[in-house]
Amino acid sequence: MNDSIFLKACRGERVERIPVWFMRQAGRSLPGYRKLRETHDVLSLTQTPELAAEVSMEPVELLGVDAAILFADIMLLPIAMGVDVKIVERVGPVIDDPIDTPDKVLRLQAFAPNQIDYLQETIRILRNKLSVPLIGFSGAPFTLASYLIEGEPSRTWLKTKRFMLEHPESWEQLMSTLSEGIIEYLRTQIRAGAQAVQIFDSWVGALSPKQYRAQVLPHMQHIFASLKNEKVPRLHFGTNTAGILDDFSNVDCEVIGVDWRVSLGEVKKRIGSKSLQGNLDPAVLLAPWETLTQTVDHMLAEINPKKGYIFNLGHGMPPQADNAVVKKLVEYVHSK
Ligand code: CP3
Repeated sequence: MNDSIFLKACRGERVERIPVWFMRQAGRSLPGYRKLRETHDVLSLTQTPELAAEVSMEPVELLGVDAAILFADIMLLPIAMGVDVKIVERVGPVIDDPIDTPDKVLRLQAFAPNQIDYLQETIRILRNKLSVPLIGFSGAPFTLASYLIEGEPSRTWLKTKRFMLEHPESWEQLMSTLSEGIIEYLRTQIRAGAQAVQIFDSWVGALSPKQYRAQVLPHMQHIFASLKNEKVPRLHFGTNTAGILDDFSNVDCEVIGVDWRVSLGEVKKRIGSKSLQGNLDPAVLLAPWETLTQTVDHMLAEINPKKGYIFNLGHGMPPQADNAVVKKLVEYVHSK
């Protein structure tokens, strides 16, 4: 397993074939998942180990990807820290009593591993069944804080930014509390069997470079440094990070994941010896096949894709994606 092309690429080693996986590959439009969703909501699926393992396995079996991602959600950590979160259909995570004043930061409880016994069990089941590496994951403190403060998905993050600007000390405290939770949450996943971990900072591109550097980066550096001695590859993903990429990649990790708003060639120059993951625009999955393959060819031509590179989308799999096209794409990248 240590010789899998995914883990080799994470470590920057040469591979015979380009490894492929897709963010949000588990669930979405896959038939087994759609069937399970008729009788289970998302949270109960993630909390039922046998079923969560089934959903994690489905893209490996159906699409032929080179890694599995644990079927979970970034909001499982805040739930373990005592936050009441609902996942509302076609909306996303919703919190009825969001953090809108500094005193509410104090309500967050410390994370304890036994609050995710169910995830540990899912991981153990998966490790028994999988023939490709299993990726564990967590949201990053900024992205998690944005849900905790906004109370629902936002496109402007005005409440989050206002909180950062108005209550810098409380912000610091919130980020520290979440960071300690994230470190323990990921350690628990690794010790249960996760062979790599990705931190999703999906919304961090909303910040100015100065704000990122002062109010987020030190926490990211602390999280990644704390996970170093777990000895599994650490992947750092964000969207809209072109303007902060030098700082974003200035953490102790193996892989930087980027979206399509920046070219792979430019990223490679800016992240030095780290490995690279990305960055097909998910919308291109819906384009005619020739357009899709041309776009992939252009991406791959900018780098040496057989050393320190993992093919992925620039963000999550769109629910509209055609599974047959995605499978053909995996074969296409494997043929390069
Ligand atoms: O590959 C996988 O899908 C693994 C499982 C996974 C889920 N969420 C399950 C889920 C992963 C890796 C996530 C990460 C996640 N969750 C992120 C970071 C990645 C990203 O997309 O930016 C974020 C921001 C969330 C929070 C979240 N959860 C949102 C915004 C939503 C609603 C919109 C959406 O993306 O679906 C959710 C709900 C959610 N998370 C569902 C699932 C299966 C329900 C949607 C469905 O019915 O399929």
